[in-house]
Formats: sequence, C-alpha cells, structure tokens
Amino acid sequence: MTGGGDCAGLNATIRGVVVKLEEDGHEVWGIERGWKGLIEPSARRLTSDSVADAVGVGGTMILTSRTNPFKIEGGPEKVHKSLKKLGLEALVAIGGNDTLGVAHKLHQMGVKVVGVPKTMDNDLSSTDFTFGFDSAVNVAMECIDRVITTGLSHERVMVVEVMGRDAGWVAAYAGIASGAHVVLIPEKPYDIVEVCKKITKRAKAGKKFSLVVVAEGAKPKGTGERATKGAALDAFGNPILGGVGEQVAKEIEKRTGVETRDVVLGHVVRGGPPSAYDRVLATRFGVAAAGLVKKGKWGMMVALKGNEIVPVDLGGAIAQKLVDDQLYAIANSFSGSG
Ligand code: F6P
Repeated sequence: MTGGGDCAGLNATIRGVVVKLEEDGHEVWGIERGWKGLIEPSARRLTSDSVADAVGVGGTMILTSRTNPFKIEGGPEKVHKSLKKLGLEALVAIGGNDTLGVAHKLHQMGVKVVGVPKTMDNDLSSTDFTFGFDSAVNVAMECIDRVITTGLSHERVMVVEVMGRDAGWVAAYAGIASGAHVVLIPEKPYDIVEVCKKITKRAKAGKKFSLVVVAEGAKPKGTGERATKGAALDAFGNPILGGVGEQVAKEIEKRTGVETRDVVLGHVVRGGPPSAYDRVLATRFGVAAAGLVKKGKWGMMVALKGNEIVPVDLGGAIAQKLVDDQLYAIANSFSGSG
C-alpha cells in the first residue's frame, strides 16, 4: 500500500517487495488508493510479471490518497475487516509521517505491518534519506538552471518556490545545487528586510540578477503565517500551501526596485521517473521490507543508515527531521557570488 503524496521510486519499491516475496512462495496484492483501499476494500494482484517494468516509472501503480482511517467512524475496525476479507496476512505500508503514523497505531492494534519510508520532502527522522528526494532535487535543479538563464538575460530577480511544508530539504539542496543567493525554508522564519539588503547589495555591485529559492512552507518573521490556498485541511490536518514565492517576489520588487518574477515548481518536481539513486534506494528498501515480512518483524520500518539498510522501530521512526543549521548556513552563504 502506498499512502500520502506520491514520489519517484514507489514503483521500484513495489517491484522489490513483490519479486522477493513471490520468490519465497507468497502471494502479493496491491491495496489501491492508500488507506482508502482498506476502508472500501480495493486491491489488485501483483506478480513479478506485472511489476517487471516498474523500476524506472514514476508515481505509484497502485494509486494513493490522503485517507486517515482514524478520522473515519469505525475506520480502524474497517481496516481489520478489509484485510480479513481480502485474505491478507500482513501489510507493507509505504509512506511518509502521516501514513506511517497510521501504520504504527494499527500495529499497536494487532495488524501485522512493516513500514517503508518515502517522501520527496526527506523529512523522516530515522532514515538518512528517503527515496523521491534525490529525484525531486534533480528536477528542481534542472528547472532552476533554466530560470537562471532567463533571469540573467533580463537582469531580474527570480524567486522559485518548491514544495516543502515543514522541512526545507528540497529548497536547501536545490538552492545549493543551483547556486542560489538566498534560500528560505520553513525552519527559519525569514526577515524580508535582510533578504532585500542582500539583493540591493548585489544590484549596487552591478549584479541585478539574484536567485531566491523558497520552500512553500517558509514564513515571515513576526506574523509567522504561511501562505495557504484557502482554509481547507487534508485528513491529517495539513493545509494546502502555496503563494509564498509570489509574496516574496512582490516585496522584493517593491523594496529594491529590481524587476522580479516568481516561478512555482510545485508538483513538477514530484512527478516523473526516479533518478538512478532513488531507483537503487527504493529497490533496496523493497527488498529489505520483503525480508522483514519473511522474518515476521512486525512494527518495524526499513531505514538507510550510512550505506546500510537497517530495521528500526516504526514508532520512533516517524518524528520529523528538519534542516540543520549547518546546511542552512551554507545555503545562504553565497549571496555575494555569481
Ligand atoms: O508529499 C508531501 C508534499 O510534497 C508536501 O511538500 C506538499 O505540501 C504536499 O505534498 C502537496 O501535496 P498535494 O498537493 O499533492 O496534496
């Protein structure tokens, strides 16, 4: 089962799980649409043949949703019943904080669960990296490379908004990789006066082009309000974010007088085929998750530690991992260059 936002590498993990469990004589079914497929039972048989070409394909072949069984009347009981009805003995839950949080609670209620961490946000504490992140950073970097040449040609400030609700890993990595002059992330409320000082200093030195990379969850000092698209929350209480890039761009143009444009990369960086790194990591996670199922290690999650794939407790695995001060400082230490 894949839950939450999709990311590149999910199909590679599914392939790893299916092929390795089938080799051992197990039958594997894909729950469709995340937890929704266990509220209104929906599953399809997966075989080595049906996943044969999956390693390089983006998205998730078994679909996903942001369904929270604990927000549905009788939800956990329905999950139990559906698993029984579908004849499934164990569940491999592939997800981020929200999906794995549900998996952990269900495990405590007796469901045989193994977890696999995925998210383009890279914000899960018990694993060094999640798959989906490297692909997202590479796509963001390629897009920003294009934004740079037009920005340089027109001597404009270019503000690029990328996903990252609570953690700014994609913004920090993509910013460093593309030579950004300012990087704004949710972890560090920004001071627009300081941002504009850097841009004005550059402009006075003859460099009107500046590149600002901003995570969608970045918030200004003071109000601390994130830019949202309406008041709606998803089933896990998350707002739909968006618009901070536009806000920052408007302020920059108004305060510095340098023409400024904003670009929102959004779902572009989450979709499409996985990078080589993500194909390998996702496959390793899938194979390791199959190994945990074979050994009956319920309530565990596979994780990357250094270069090893290790099992960790699902309960402790879902805390959020934020961008550290050192990385943030590096990301913002190039405002004088370029
Ligand atoms: O998967 C997490 C995430 O990528 C966040 O960074 C982002 O806020 C959210 O998904 C957007 O999800 P969607 O618009 O697909 O619901």
